[in-house]
Amino acid sequence: MSEYVLETKGLGISFGGLKAVSDVNLKVKKGEIYGLIGPNGAGKTTVFNLLTGVYTPTEGTFFLDGKELKGLSQEKINRSGIARTFQNIRLFNNMTVVRNVMVGLHNRKEYSCSVMQSIFRMPAHFSVERRMREKAKELLDIFGLLEERNNLSCNLPYGKQRKLEIARALATEPQLLLLDEPAAGMNPIETEDLRRTVEIIRDRFGVTVLLIEHDLKFVTEICNEITVLNFGTVIAQGTVKEALSDPQVVKAYIGS
Ligand SMILES: Nc1ncnc2c1ncn2[C@@H]1O[C@H](COP(=O)(O)OP(=O)(O)OP(=O)(O)O)[C@@H](O)[C@H]1O
Ligand SMILES: [Mg+2]
Repeated sequence: MSEYVLETKGLGISFGGLKAVSDVNLKVKKGEIYGLIGPNGAGKTTVFNLLTGVYTPTEGTFFLDGKELKGLSQEKINRSGIARTFQNIRLFNNMTVVRNVMVGLHNRKEYSCSVMQSIFRMPAHFSVERRMREKAKELLDIFGLLEERNNLSCNLPYGKQRKLEIARALATEPQLLLLDEPAAGMNPIETEDLRRTVEIIRDRFGVTVLLIEHDLKFVTEICNEITVLNFGTVIAQGTVKEALSDPQVVKAYIGS
């Protein structure tokens, strides 16, 4: 067991010779809610893409609970324990709410059955289906979405779609959950509800959260520590208060 759930060492990537992200060193402790902030184009989403196998780092590496994950596929990284949501919501719009969560469960061993069992609709197939549906309903209940389970996800209001995306990511049973601007576009009531949701993720599921967010009030209320990026490099790290009062951070935000 490592002291840190996530540790990155000199993490970076260049696209066609241009460094988008460079020398990012994060140390995220278990049970923390950790913020990654910075002006538009700072490289925040790119860091998530590196941590989830969308891109392979061209510099440095990263570890989940001491295990190096650099170079693994997106699926393997997810199975290893990192799940994410996206800056623009990605749900299966033509599927019901409960089906969307069941998709997340497919990555787990206890819900696997052979292709033959599925094609021939053998009893094992139905029992796996049933157990998955029950598990998905449990998750939906925790997130206050149980009543909506048979609605198409595209018919949910925005705040609930965001929560559903989080529930689906949690269904993969991650150790670390990455949330890319979860509060974007939310009204104050939805943002408050999101804050409680993130606390549930930490307290009830024991999942560590790394989140990107522009809403600094939200960040201040919820994050233990933050890292501030600007032009792909880290300009400040520490408690929210420390980092936000750093002159370079003040300048980056006023300049943007
Ligand atoms: N596949 C890619 N090819 C080339 N450049 C890329 C690629 N992905 C990201 N970049 C560049 O990396 C930089 C950082 O982008 P990124 O999306 O990570 O920023 P961000 O901090 O998430 O911004 P925002 O707050 O607007 O979401 C940008 O200049 C972007 O153009
Ligand atoms: Mg982004």
